[in-house]
Amino acid sequence: MSWERAARSEDVGRVLHRVDVGGHPMLVARTADGDAIAVGPICPHQNKPMDGGNVYGDEVDCPNHHYTYDARTGENGYPKRVFPARRAAAVKPITAYRTREADGWVWVHTGSSG
Ligand code: FES
Repeated sequence: MSWERAARSEDVGRVLHRVDVGGHPMLVARTADGDAIAVGPICPHQNKPMDGGNVYGDEVDCPNHHYTYDARTGENGYPKRVFPARRAAAVKPITAYRTREADGWVWVHTGSSG
């Protein structure tokens, strides 16, 4: 597990864009503040790809049924925040990867720390 190049900075915008990082498929984009983010490509709601979804503020919006996820933690925002506690507890997160930008590239850490 290490830092790996994911995409050229100039190619990363506000729409989730699929890349392959060392055999890990993921989606990269930018928050409203311009920070690069990288998340797993599959929404756990109905296990559908999130390619082409938008990022609103710092939340990733699944284009299928508009579940939203925090771009940095992967935690679900909607519908978790409007569900009763028991249903909210069952809503799964997505994988969110650590990112940084250097030398014109967005880099992603494929491990959980480091
Ligand atoms: S598959 Fe993502 S919200 Fe339904």
